[in-house]
Parts: sequence; structure tokens; C-alpha cells
Amino acid sequence: MIETKNINFYYGDFHALKDISMEMQAHTVTALIGPSGCGKSTFLRLFNRMNDLIDGTRLTGECLIEGENIYHKSVQVDELRKKVGMVFQKPNPFPKSIFENVAYGLRVNHIGDKSYITQRVEESLRDAALWDEVKDKLKKSAFELSGGQQQRLCIARALAISPSILLMDEPASALDPISTSKIEELIHSLKKDYTIVIVTHNMQQAARVSDKTGFFMLGELIEYNDTKKMFLNPEKEQTQNYITGRFG
Ligand SMILES: Nc1ncnc2c1ncn2[C@@H]1O[C@H](COP(=O)(O)OP(=O)(O)OP(=O)(O)O)[C@@H](O)[C@H]1O
Ligand SMILES: [Mg+2]
Repeated sequence: MIETKNINFYYGDFHALKDISMEMQAHTVTALIGPSGCGKSTFLRLFNRMNDLIDGTRLTGECLIEGENIYHKSVQVDELRKKVGMVFQKPNPFPKSIFENVAYGLRVNHIGDKSYITQRVEESLRDAALWDEVKDKLKKSAFELSGGQQQRLCIARALAISPSILLMDEPASALDPISTSKIEELIHSLKKDYTIVIVTHNMQQAARVSDKTGFFMLGELIEYNDTKKMFLNPEKEQTQNYITGRFG
């Protein structure tokens, strides 16, 4: 589903990603872990070309989604972003109603069919495990929701346009334990329909939600392995030190 081949990424002179080659299968959850500043978010942002928005950056190597190089000149970034949805660390609902937050992506994609929009909003909210909590107040402002609900709303917003890949950058780090476990359950249930890549600082979370884990350090992919293997019996000493908290 996703494949990077010898990716190098630079912010000006700073070499942020060093020769990263990695494959992610469809319908799996891949966790990206590693110390702050190691390049996890930079790597994640490659897949929907969010790094394009930053001046002075440079990329070499290839990034393929479903076999297509997404940095090829012929690729339309809008189309790519329909296929690759993203959820950020801090819930960022729009200053609109709950309903309109979820409908937003459909409207900007010129979908006008009212009954389809209504149906898709409900489906997305159900998929994001939020429907029961909001079904009676769809016209209320999204800001009236709790942080955990806002984050699930942002997930529903991402799902509404039916992406095949969902990128999540520390989606639960600003949430309380109950909301966090809801998001984790949600990730688990979304896996059947989506390919998910999640950045997390929480080792237990990575171990709970992911099939595969990539450990980054200083822009290098140190180890990429089955999550079980990674946390029980990693191949690299650096990984062992990091996951046991002996990293220094
Ligand atoms: N817009 C930018 N301009 C210049 N350098 C940047 C920019 N964004 C990130 N960097 C640098 O690239 C490196 C990787 O940053 P990145 O945000 O990918 O790390 P991260 O692993 O996501 O860290 P964290 O866990 O703190 O979120 C860091 O050294 C950072 O300072
Ligand atoms: Mg980050």
C-alpha cells in the first residue's frame, strides 16, 4: 500500500530523514516511535505531501502509494489528499456545527446531494464511534464537545471522504485515559477498512494498536519489525534501550 525507497529529506541544510526504505501493507496499523525530533512527523507528512507546504525543503528517493510515485509531476495533490487523510495531535475542529465539520470534505469536493451528505455524515460519525454521543446535537458547535469527542470528530471528518490511508500524528497525546482508550479501540476497528500510520510517544499504545513498528533515531530508521517482536525481543540494542526507557 505504502512504500518508501531510499527517502532522504532536508530542511535547508538539515538532513532530517536518512535513506528510509519501508513498506506498509494495506489494512495494517504501523506505529512510528522514537525520541523527539527524530523525524517521525516529517516522515508521516511525506505521505500526503504536507511537507510541500514548508519552504526550503528537499526530497530524494521515492514514495509510492498503491504503486504510484506520489511525487511525480502528474500527481494532483488534492486527489492524493482525498486518498490520504490526516489527524493531528491537537483536535482542530472548524468553527462550525458538528454536522458541518464532517460534511466539510464532501462540500469542498462539490458533493451537493443532501441525502447522500446526511447519510455519509452519520456513517462517518458511527465509524468514529461518536454518533451516539452527538446524534441529538448535530447542529451544535463542534467547540461544545469535549477534547476527546473533538478528536473523534476530526477522525470522522477525515473518514467522510473515504480515504484509504489514515495518518495520525500523536492523536491521543492531548487526551485523558478514557478518551485515549476510545481512540485506540477505534484504530483497531478502522483497520479493516483503512491502512493506518500512527506516530506515538506512548510505548504501550504502540504495542496495543499496531501490527508493525518503526523505531527512528536522528532521522534514521533503526528497526522496523512486527510489533510483538519489537517489544518482546528487538533486534537492535538501541531499540531495546529506547523501549525500556534506558535511552540516553
Ligand atoms: N519546518 C521545519 N523547519 C526546519 N526544521 C524542521 C522543521 N520541522 C521539523 N524540523 C526538524 O526536523 C527534525 C525532525 O522533526 P520532526 O518534527 O519530524 O520530529 P518528531 O520525531 O516528529 O518529533 P516530536 O516527537 O517532538 O514530534 C527536528 O530536528 C526538527 O527540528
Ligand atoms: Mg512530531
